[in-house]
Amino acid sequence: MRKIFFLDQFSKVYGPVYSIYLGFTPAVVVRGLKDLKEVLVTRGVEFADRPQNRISEVISGRKGLVVAPYGRSWKEHRRFTLSTLRNFGLGKKSMEERIYEESAHLIEELKKNKNSLYDPHYVLENAVSNIICSIVFGRRYDYDDSTFQDILNLVCEHMKLATQFWAQLYNAFGFVRHLPLPHQKMFRNVEIVFGFLRKVVEEHKRTRVPEQPRDYIDCYLDEMNKEQRDDNKSTFEEENLFTCLVDLFVAGTETTSSSLDWSLLYMMLYPDIQEKCREEIDKIRGERDHVDYEDRVNMPYTQAVLQEVQRFASVVPLGVAHASIKDVQLNGFTIPKVSKILFLSYLKRMVEYIFSSSQVTMVKGLQNLPCCPIPFVYLLFIFIQNTYIK
Ligand code: HEM
Repeated sequence: MRKIFFLDQFSKVYGPVYSIYLGFTPAVVVRGLKDLKEVLVTRGVEFADRPQNRISEVISGRKGLVVAPYGRSWKEHRRFTLSTLRNFGLGKKSMEERIYEESAHLIEELKKNKNSLYDPHYVLENAVSNIICSIVFGRRYDYDDSTFQDILNLVCEHMKLATQFWAQLYNAFGFVRHLPLPHQKMFRNVEIVFGFLRKVVEEHKRTRVPEQPRDYIDCYLDEMNKEQRDDNKSTFEEENLFTCLVDLFVAGTETTSSSLDWSLLYMMLYPDIQEKCREEIDKIRGERDHVDYEDRVNMPYTQAVLQEVQRFASVVPLGVAHASIKDVQLNGFTIPKVSKILFLSYLKRMVEYIFSSSQVTMVKGLQNLPCCPIPFVYLLFIFIQNTYIK
C-alpha cells in the first residue's frame, strides 16, 4: 500500500501519465479515468501486451491467459476459455445453481463455528475455488480435503512470493535463480501445483469420452485433438493447459475470496449497514428460500454496498500490468513498444468522479441509488448475509 501511496503522490507532481524506474525496470504509470479508459478500452489493442520478466518466463513460459504476451496463443486461448466458461454456465442460470449448492455447504461450515473465534478466509477461498473447480475440473473439494487445502495455500503463498524482494532481485539478475534464497520456494510451489494438475488431467484422459465434455479440461483435450488434425502448429498443448488452469485458479480464487473477506469485515464494522442489507434482502426474498441473481435489480442498497466494499478494498490496486505492442502516443508522450504500464485504480477521487458523492461514502448511508451490476459470485455473500448472520 505504501508503494501505491507514493505512486499516487508522484502523479500530483508529474501528472496523470508519468514514467518511473521500479528497480531496473522502466514503467509508465497511468492514473485518472480519462487515460485509463484510453489505455484499457478505446485503444485496448495497442496496449494489449503483457510485460515479460524472468519470473513470468519460468512460471508461465509465455503461455496461459493472464501474463501471456499478445499474439496467436493468447488470442486463441482467451476466445476458447471465454466460450467454454459460458457453455458451462458463466453468467447463466446453471452457474447460479452451482453457487446455491456451494453456498449451502459454506453456510453449514460457518454454522459449525458460530460460537467460536474463527477466521473464515480459508473456507471462503475453498468455496469460491469450488465454483471455479466445478466448471474447470467437474468437481468440488470438501473443506477438510487437506491436499486441496495445501494447493490453495501454495497458490496464495505464490502470489506473495512473486511480488517480494527476492523475486524482484531474480528478475533483475538472472544468476540469482540458483542461489539458495527464499524465491526458491516459489519454484518448488509451482512444481507441486503443476504436479497436482497433472494428476487431474491424467485422470480426465483416462475417463473422458471424446466430444462429450464434462468440464473445461475435457473441452481442452477435445480442442487439442481437433487442432492436431487441422494444423500441427497448434497452440493447444498440455503445458498451455496447465498454465490456463493455474491462471483461472489464481485469477479467480484470491480476488473473489478477498473481496468476500472484506465484505464480511465491513459488515462487522458497520452493523447498521449490515442490518439495512439484510432488511432489503429479506423483503425481496419474501417466502422463498433464497433470492435469485435477477432480484439484484430490486436491491439497490445491497448492490451499492458491495460496490463500495470493492472500491474500499481494491483487491488488485495496481491492476495487472499491460505493455504496448508498438510505439504509441498517450497524453502527449511517446511510449515505446513493450513498455510496462501500471494502473492506479486505487483512486478515491476517480470513483467519486464516476459516482456522485452521495453514493460513495458508506458511513453516510446509501439511498436511492441507480442499479449497477455486481459480480455474479457475490450471490455467495448475499446467502451468507441472509442465512448465517442473524
Ligand atoms: C472480485 C473478483 C475479481 C477481480 C477484482 C478481478 C480483477 C481482475 C483484473 C484487475 C484483471 C486484469 C485486467 C486487465 O489487465 O485487463 C483480471 C484479469 C483476469 N481475470 Fe479477474 N478478477 C476477479 C475475478 C475473476 C474470476 C472469478 C475469474 C475466473 C474464474 C477471473 C479470471 C481472469 C482472467 C483469465 C484474467 C486475464 C484476462 C486477460 O488477460 O484478458 N477473474 N481480473
